[in-house]
Amino acid sequence: MRYLEGIVLKKWSAAVLAGALAVSALAGCGGSDDDAAAGGSGSGKLTMGFSQVGAESGWRTANTKSVQESAVTAGIDLKFSDAQGKQENQIKAIRSFIAQRVDVIAFSPVVESGWDTVLKEAKDANIPVILTDRAVDSADKTLYKTFIGSDFVVEGKKAGEWLVEQYKGKTGEVNIVELQGSPGAAPANDRKAGFAEVIKADPNLKVIASQTGQFTRTDGKKVMEAFLKAHPKIDVLYAHNDDMGLGAIEAIEAAGKKPGVDIKIITVDAVKDGMTALSEGKINYIVECSPLLGPQLMDLAKKVKAGETVEARVLTEETTFTQEQAKAVLADRKY
Ligand code: AHR
Repeated sequence: MRYLEGIVLKKWSAAVLAGALAVSALAGCGGSDDDAAAGGSGSGKLTMGFSQVGAESGWRTANTKSVQESAVTAGIDLKFSDAQGKQENQIKAIRSFIAQRVDVIAFSPVVESGWDTVLKEAKDANIPVILTDRAVDSADKTLYKTFIGSDFVVEGKKAGEWLVEQYKGKTGEVNIVELQGSPGAAPANDRKAGFAEVIKADPNLKVIASQTGQFTRTDGKKVMEAFLKAHPKIDVLYAHNDDMGLGAIEAIEAAGKKPGVDIKIITVDAVKDGMTALSEGKINYIVECSPLLGPQLMDLAKKVKAGETVEARVLTEETTFTQEQAKAVLADRKY
């Protein structure tokens, strides 16, 4: 009898031990308190779950590269997920990062609204969130630690200021068409608003058509074809990114017009293809938006995990380019 009791006890102890190991393995990504204080995970490496918007543009490709390369350099274990332009995929990815107990969650939100519930889940699980590139419109700012990225309203304003300057002292209506980014995305909303605010200064500047081109070359081309059919006199194209502008250039050339001459073109981003078109005279002006957010993001993740206070808003430094300036820097442009 005592012998049998011994066997049962041994089996029970083994089961308890196995259970304990399984639980600690599941919790492993979160790391211990000591480990967290050192800015690491249970494996000694900080683990970051990153949900990317997709691969819609040259900017996005450069941004993904920057995040992935910087994670390697910083010794951070990156769990990367591509949302393919869908908010529901990002929400799923964030929930999966929470279940995996990553140390930090970072994401570039596809759209501005609708994040409160999932961000609250991350907060309740004690996992800090960093917004990168794009903001959310949540009223509760405690749902995320910091937001690193550009000021898209300022970008729109810079585009408008250049245009106002071009037509200063001139008479006659200037017909502008606008290719907006993907609906509901912060850069689409803000670049539109910033531009509209500034061009109000000159009543001759009129936006005669404005439609989404989804931040892609394909849609930029399609929508520009439709604009050209519907509007015989287009003087200016304002595209919320280079890729849509580049697609539109194809449509303009196919319509027998000269981009940059018959129709002035302003874009945002300054990726290599955009800068090439600018230096060739096909685009007139580009407002820079830097995709190289990786190094700062990794730095912020380490600080946040170590419990250090970080700035609520980290702004990226950016400039603008004329055709002459593009020619001067093109050879060194990395992305
Ligand atoms: O959020 C940044 C924007 O997203 C870039 O300007 C655009 O090219 C991208 O798709």
